[in-house]
Order: sequence, then structure tokens, then C-alpha cells
Amino acid sequence: MARITVVGGTGYAGGNIVREAAQRGHEVTAISRKAPADKTRGVTYVEVDVLDSAALAAALEGADVIVGALSPRGALEGKMAGVAKDLADVAQASGTRLGMVGGAGSLLASPNGPTLASGEDFPEEYKPEALEMAGILDDLRASDEALDWFYVSPAANFGAYNPGEHTGTFRIGGDVLIVDDEGNSEISGADFAQAIVDEIEKPAHRRERFSVAY
Ligand SMILES: NC(=O)c1ccc[n+]([C@@H]2O[C@H](COP(=O)([O-])OP(=O)(O)OC[C@H]3O[C@@H](n4cnc5c(N)ncnc54)[C@H](OP(=O)(O)O)[C@@H]3O)[C@@H](O)[C@H]2O)c1
Repeated sequence: MARITVVGGTGYAGGNIVREAAQRGHEVTAISRKAPADKTRGVTYVEVDVLDSAALAAALEGADVIVGALSPRGALEGKMAGVAKDLADVAQASGTRLGMVGGAGSLLASPNGPTLASGEDFPEEYKPEALEMAGILDDLRASDEALDWFYVSPAANFGAYNPGEHTGTFRIGGDVLIVDDEGNSEISGADFAQAIVDEIEKPAHRRERFSVAY
């Protein structure tokens, strides 16, 4: 059993991770500005604005693993690098593992690139979010060796608009987008969360990005 704190634990990715971790018997804390009406049994909900660094650091105390599942939208647009730095500083100082949920946009469309986000087909409206989350991966790769991090990118068609089913069967990849035989790149919220809790229970990607898709 691990004490897992999911920052953004009431969002789409975060909520799935919280449910999966709680179901597996971990001690789970979910951080967000507003606790949800529909709470997962056994989960501790803490209301903190991550832009308040001191309050965030206090809320992260005691975690064995911190998972960042925030999105650079709304008040966090343009601010995610700073928030990720705060999470990394707390994690490094306390010797806590840090997992960051990012996007598919920073994955390579083929082994020699380019990234999905730099391709012509990538939706213009998602580009700022993709670039901001890609920057966090760059920052983690440049971070002090003592920081134990992993970064996880979902399939291209991951998102609240496409929740899918919990199948328990998926593939784990690296920096190149995983597509199925029809060329689709999909992963349900529940299967994505399963892969992340698997990584927490059995670390296989220290200071690495991995990707999850069918
Ligand atoms: N296909 C793709 O590549 C794809 C698709 C979707 C998501 N993603 C990635 O997955 C990650 C998570 O996205 P998501 O869609 O799951 O996000 P989301 O549903 O928008 O959830 C965001 C979470 O962060 C919390 N939050 C927002 N601002 C906060 C603040 N100032 N202080 C504390 N908590 C705050 C929200 O709760 P409150 O509002 O109550 O604070 C919520 O729990 C992102 O990196 C995103 O880029 C990738």
C-alpha cells in the first residue's frame, strides 16, 4: 500500500487514477480547488489552489508518490511549468516519486519524428496545451538526477469526450505514438489509469516517459 497524492485528482485523468488506486487499496489523496460532489469512498479530498506554492507543499506532505494530473487550461494556462517545478522541488526534497500526466502531442508520429503537435493535422486549438506539457517533459529530462520522475502520454484520442471501457489490455510504448492496425490511437480513461497505478506499484520507467494505447 502506498500513499498516493493525485494533484488534479478530480479531473478526467486524475479522477480515473484516484479510482483505480483506491480500488487497489492505496491510501489516496486528491487535490483540487473544489472537492467533487461524487466522492470515491476512502479517498481524502483536499481543496488547495496549486498556484499557492506553500499550501501545495503542505498538502503534499507525507505522500510516497505524487501524481500531477493538471491541465494547462483556465487559470493554469501558461503557468504549468511553474507548478510542475513546485511539484518537482517538493518531490526531490522529500525523496518522493513524481509522475506527470502529459499529452500525446509530444509523442513522435514515427521513430524519426516529427512530434504530433508539429504535424499539419494536429488541431490548432490543442497546440498551446500540447507545447506547454511538452515543455514540462523537457524540464524533467533536464532535472537533477536525484529527482525520481516518470511522465506518461496517452493515446492521441484520449480524453473526457472518449472515456471508453476498462479492458485491462493495452500496450506500453515509449516516445513514438502507438496506433492499432487501423491506424487509430485510443485508450480509455480506466485503462490509462491502470497503467499508471501499475507503474506506481512496479516502477519500470525511472526518469523516463512512457505511453499507453491499445
Ligand atoms: N489526448 C491527449 O493528449 C490528452 C487529452 C486530455 C488530457 N490530456 C492531458 O492529461 C492531463 C490532465 O488533463 P485532464 O483533461 O484530465 O484535466 P481536467 O479534466 O481539466 O482536470 C484538471 C484537474 O486539475 C484541477 N485544477 C485545475 N486548476 C487547479 C488549481 N489552480 N489548483 C488545484 N487544482 C486545479 C481540477 O479541479 P478544480 O477545477 O476543482 O481545481 C481538476 O481536478 C493534461 O496534461 C492534459 O494535457 C491529454
